[in-house]
This record gives sequence, C-alpha cells and structure tokens, in this order.
Amino acid sequence: MISLTDRLSLFPISTKVNALGELEIAGCKLTALVKEYDTPLYIYDAATIKEQVSILKQLLEKQYGMNASIAYATKAYFSLSFARKLRELGIGADLITIGDIRTAQKAALDPGLLHLHGNNKSEEEIRAALEWGIGAIVIDSLDELSFVEAIAKDMQKKARIWLRITPDITVNTHRHIQTSHAASKFGLHISDGQAALAVQQASGSKWVNLVGLHTHLGSQLRDTKVYEEAIRKMYALAAENGFSPQEFSPGGGWGVRYTEEDQPNEPGLWIEAVSRCIQQECKSRGWSLPLLVIEPGRFTVARAGVALYTVGSQKQTPDGQHIVAVDGGIADNPRVALYGASYTALVADRANAANEIQSRVVGKFCESGDVLIEEVLLPKIHRSETLAIPVAGAYQLSMSSNYNFATRPTVLWLENGTVEVMQNREHPEDSGWWSLNN
Ligand code: LLP
Repeated sequence: MISLTDRLSLFPISTKVNALGELEIAGCKLTALVKEYDTPLYIYDAATIKEQVSILKQLLEKQYGMNASIAYATKAYFSLSFARKLRELGIGADLITIGDIRTAQKAALDPGLLHLHGNNKSEEEIRAALEWGIGAIVIDSLDELSFVEAIAKDMQKKARIWLRITPDITVNTHRHIQTSHAASKFGLHISDGQAALAVQQASGSKWVNLVGLHTHLGSQLRDTKVYEEAIRKMYALAAENGFSPQEFSPGGGWGVRYTEEDQPNEPGLWIEAVSRCIQQECKSRGWSLPLLVIEPGRFTVARAGVALYTVGSQKQTPDGQHIVAVDGGIADNPRVALYGASYTALVADRANAANEIQSRVVGKFCESGDVLIEEVLLPKIHRSETLAIPVAGAYQLSMSSNYNFATRPTVLWLENGTVEVMQNREHPEDSGWWSLNN
C-alpha cells in the first residue's frame, strides 16, 4: 500500500499538507493559485532547486575539490525569468539554439560559464557564440570542426572548443534518450576513429583552441559504471593522441524518481564515480586534474516542478478502466507518449483521501497517446477538482506544443510564500496561427 508520505516524497521539499488536508508548496495553497491563475498551471519551488544545486556543489567540493562547476542543461526548462534565477544561483548553462543564446544574453549570464551544444549548429549560432565569447563551442562532428574553423578564421577570433566524444556504449534507459551508442547521431565516435581524427585536427588548428573533452551518455541514468567506462575510453583516446584536457565534462543524465516504486537515486554515487575515475586516469599519467563540468538538467529541476490540472469528464471503458480526463495533456507533457514515462498524482485539496480507484489520467487532446498517467490509484474524484502531478519540472514545458491550439500554461516561481509569474499563459494569437489572417 502506498502511503501519503511515499507520494509526498516526490513533491517539492517545501510541500506540506495543512490541517484541512490541502497541499501547500512554499507556503502557498495550490488551489488558491489555481483560482488566481487557472489551469493547466505549472509551479516551480525555489527551495527545491536551490537544494538540488547545493547538494551537487557540496558533493563536487567533497569528491573533486574546488576545480569543478555546474552547467545546467537548459533544455530541461528555460525561460528568461528562469535564466535570471540561474544567474542568482551562480551556475553555468548549456545552450543549443540562437534562442537560448539570446535568452542567456538578455539575462546577462556570464558567457564564460556557458557552452554551445547541438549536432547541427547554424552559422548564426556559431558566430553569436564567438562574438559573445562563450566558454566553449562543443564540436559534434569533423564536418562541424572545419565549419567552426572557417567561421573563426573569417571573424579572426580563435574558437575555444570542446570535442563531444561518443564512446559507443549502450546505456540502460529508453532508446529515445540514449545518446552514446554506436548508432547515435551525436558526437565524434571513438570506434571508427573520428574522435581521434578530431583531436588531431583540432590540436593542430590555428583557429580553434581545444581545451576539453565532453560526452553525454543519455538521460534518466542510474548506473555509475557507464560513466566510468566512458571516462576511461576518453582518457585513453586523449593519451593516444597526446592531448591532456584542461576541462572535462561527463555530461548530465543522472536520473530522478518519478513514482513511489522508483528507488532513490543518490547523486553522491554519480559524483563519487565520476570524480574518482577522472582522478585515477590523470594520476596514472601524471596529468593535472581538469576543470570538471557536470551538466545536470533533470536532476536540477524535475522535482521542483508540479503540474496542476482541473478534472473534467470521467468514464469507464468496456475493458474496465476508469478514465479521468484533465484540461492539459500531451501538449504540455509529451513524455508519456514519447518515453512511456510514469507519474503519480494527488488531489490538491484532499491529499489525505484514501486512494481506492485504479485510474488512467488522460488529457483533452485528439490523440490516443494523450495520456498523463497510465495507472495510478486515486480517490473518487469529482469534476472541477485540482489534480497535482509532481516531478513535472523537466522536459515538460520545454517540450510543450500548441497541438489543437493549446496555449502554453502559466508558470509560477514560489519562494517563501511569494509568487512570481515566470511565464504568462499564451493566447491563441501568440502562437502565430492567426497572424496571416490579420
Ligand atoms: N548535456 C547534454 C549534452 C545533453 O544533451 C543533455 C540532455 C544533458 C546534458 C542533460 O541531461 P539530464 O541531466 O537532464 O538527463 N526529453 C527527454 C530528455 C532528453 C535529454 C536531452 N539531453 C526526457 O524528457 O526524458
């Protein structure tokens, strides 16, 4: 039997159930927020994000020392307001597109703490990164290496680069979020010699300054062994090509709990394994330790986020399923359809109610894959009640869409009883679909 405490352990750290059985986060009653901002509504708990960052900072300092930093993977969730929060947290960030770069610039992030990722950067993106002097452009292919060299030459600016190395390791996660196997579209593969060629070409180049090696193995990982194997392969590659990295990034990917059944995934295991392995590899070669850069996306924001929906229609299917439909769905959270992700939920004003009905929570959109929770035990629930789905902070809003003219939800930042709107709800006219008929 799943207890309320188990379910609450998935919610942000400031979550409380008040005397009336109502959920509060950062001192704010969730249904009061819904009354003011409507649903679907996303909230981020400041305390949880600060806690996650502080856990990682402390672990890095303990296991590796001061020469380590965090670059938040903005693809997990990004907006201008959130970029400003990152600046306050004093951490770096990974960027992918020109939109990310412009957002980071507007938020006045320190360019030295930023990295430009992606397997197909445009000339505009590369020029913007060089112009602004961001920490490193992470080169994804031999083709891109030559492209960046040509742009750098044209701009008469030497590009500071990392090479993204693909160690040809298949990690244990959903196949859509594996990134380091032999068929991966990402990075310079070691097994076919492209990684070695890139190290050689970059080391001898007048227009790039090769400072680091990077890999990202996949997402929602729980196994430290794959990180160790990747680091060893990357150091062997570096040594064979006479290159001692000043900076080294084993990427992000450390997983989080989504349901009560998921085992705790201690970040200490990850940081310890990565630190120890880099230290061993350097020591055995008499090399100095590189700046270690980790890139946690999900770990930083997933638990801080909660998605709030209003319950609408319910029905029984002939095969006995109880369906609860809410006013969001695949448009704000495509993760169930894409990765078979699992979630759980609480009725926001009746957290204590007994969970007695096996329910399937679906969205309102025209698509059978529009499911938010395949199976969850819920109390008997009524139209207009608020359903709160935890662990909603990563890769939901950032992958949201305007399917069926859905408008992206309001996003709130909750901190010590204060509410800040980070994103306003979109209106249909914001989506661009109306502009041609004006
Ligand atoms: N670094 C690089 C280069 C990445 O590509 C990613 C994620 C990260 C770091 C952060 O990984 P994390 O710590 O968040 O696992 N949409 C999928 C996840 C895609 C991850 C893409 N890259 C999902 O919803 O599960």
